[in-house]
Amino acid sequence: MGEASQLQKVYNQTKYKLANHGVRNIQVLQKAFEKKNGELESDLYGTGQIIEDFQSKMASYLGKEDAVFFPSGTMAQQIALRIWCDEKGDKKVAYHPLSHLEIHEEDGLKELHHIETVLLADRNRVIDLSDVMNMENGVAAVLLELPQREIGGQLPSFETLRDISKYCRENNIRLHLDGARLLEVLPYYGKTAAEVCAMFDSVYVSLYKGIGGIAGAILAGAQDFINQSKVWKRRYGGDLISLYPYIISADYYFDMRAHKMEQYFRESKEVADQFNSCYGISTLPAVPVSNMFHVHIEFSKEQVEPILLEVERQTGIGLTSHLKEINKQSCYFEVHMGDMYSEIPKELVTRAFDLLNQQMKRDLSNEADYE
Ligand SMILES: Cc1ncc(COP(=O)(O)O)c(C=O)c1O
Repeated sequence: MGEASQLQKVYNQTKYKLANHGVRNIQVLQKAFEKKNGELESDLYGTGQIIEDFQSKMASYLGKEDAVFFPSGTMAQQIALRIWCDEKGDKKVAYHPLSHLEIHEEDGLKELHHIETVLLADRNRVIDLSDVMNMENGVAAVLLELPQREIGGQLPSFETLRDISKYCRENNIRLHLDGARLLEVLPYYGKTAAEVCAMFDSVYVSLYKGIGGIAGAILAGAQDFINQSKVWKRRYGGDLISLYPYIISADYYFDMRAHKMEQYFRESKEVADQFNSCYGISTLPAVPVSNMFHVHIEFSKEQVEPILLEVERQTGIGLTSHLKEINKQSCYFEVHMGDMYSEIPKELVTRAFDLLNQQMKRDLSNEADYE
């Protein structure tokens, strides 16, 4: 691991954090186990009460016949798409150019399964019905990611989802949901998880993002699909002899946070509004549709970093631990609202944003005039 940046170091020392659920230390696991009966029997290669109860609970929450726990979403989704390709006899799937499978999985789908990918829509927008209608023939499955993380967590409308789902069903194309952050978008749609999932043949949900568990994923769908996915899970080495540390923590944090998504969504809009009122800063989307958004800054990383350091030092609020360079004139960072925000006194939040705005204007408004 490289040395922590100055921003990371100062962020780590701040008393409050604007986003997320808190430090990912081993206490997260300890807390989930605090009240657990030590006599509980461990799961064993995918069987046993702990894993089976949790899988049933998630299947019914997602409105699907069955569900299976996977150590990672990466594993779960490659397998889901492989099953749909085998069913159709066509090794081709379609998804967004910035899908996790396309940019973060070292081409697992192509290398391990020789599945061809069709990229829908351009990088800066979400997939629309016309993208699906105009795609080339022979696609076995379309994957939709809700929300589309790499573009700030944007979402298609619920009507668009319905239309895509209807089109896929009529044209014998399976629809898979990358719902890594599914719970986080439910307040915006005003729907239950089951209502959203009903439009999809298979669904993946992450257990460590908005839910805040240690790691892991749920894959849900019809019985036959889940049976096949269990065989693939074994082939992948995903059938760890015991998965209970992940399952017990996922279950604990699911119960603790599933009902808080509305709060995170509200706070996300509130905080995005504050960023948007600062000089040279705007959020993507302008008004968030989930607990996440990107903060774009029209100045270089080198220009912005000292300002963030000063605001974090003076107010004790960690706004971000990192900045990503877009080009020499702009940078951005990602925000996921979680439990941390409500612990910050409101007047301190206001002070931090006032200070951020002032410092941006003081240090950078002249720079912009010269361009
Ligand atoms: C949208 C999306 N899909 C899939 C994954 C993969 O999940 P995992 O880290 O459990 O493999 C991630 C992880 O960041 C993600 O953001």
